[in-house]
Amino acid sequence: MTALTKPIAEIQYEDLSHLEIVEGLLDEAFGPGRFAKTAYRLREGTVPIPELSFVATLKGRPIGAVRLSPITIGGAEALFLGPLVVHPDHKNQGYGLTLMNRALHAARQLGHRLVVLVGDAPYYARAGFKPIPPGRVRLPGPVDPNRLLACELVEGSLDAVSGMARPAPRR
Ligand SMILES: CC(C)(COP(=O)(O)OP(=O)(O)OC[C@H]1O[C@@H](n2cnc3c(N)ncnc32)[C@H](O)[C@@H]1OP(=O)(O)O)[C@@H](O)C(=O)NCCC(=O)NCCS
Repeated sequence: MTALTKPIAEIQYEDLSHLEIVEGLLDEAFGPGRFAKTAYRLREGTVPIPELSFVATLKGRPIGAVRLSPITIGGAEALFLGPLVVHPDHKNQGYGLTLMNRALHAARQLGHRLVVLVGDAPYYARAGFKPIPPGRVRLPGPVDPNRLLACELVEGSLDAVSGMARPAPRR
């Protein structure tokens, strides 16, 4: 298949019909040990926000996904981005960034102010994430401070928060 005829994935809201395939993508990308990671610990006790969770689909089959979940940082509301995953066969085609930008745009539209994540700074910088100053935000488990990143949906919103990040129940 040439680049000209290559189908382009659609971005749509994640729903229950996608769950099994998305979980398979996550198992393949992160392995069974993913549940022990600090990021997963933070997401325990909350659920991703349906309006902020998207899949990239080809012929209805998910090839990538992103989810945003509600958290608090020192009592202030924020969002946690993750997981973000793209199937190995479809990497480097912009789907990761497209999914992330779609979720961040939707979050901004809904009035959210701040998104944090744990990930590789050079990649997430492409979507506007920057390192959180050391010690400002604590997570419920070990995390490399260089990988703790934030994207301000409202300028200056990071300055207003500090403390322990915890899962938040859905409003
Ligand atoms: C990370 C991931 C989501 C990127 O998805 P993708 O659709 O391939 O990414 P995009 O097409 O938007 O961007 C590709 C570009 O980002 C770069 N990139 C990808 N991962 C990177 C990383 N970890 N660090 C730095 N750059 C990275 C690629 O080299 C490529 O660069 P180029 O545009 O200069 O060629 C995907 O590789 C993946 O699912 N990885 C396994 C799971 C994972 O690590 N998820 C992130 C942690 S939650």
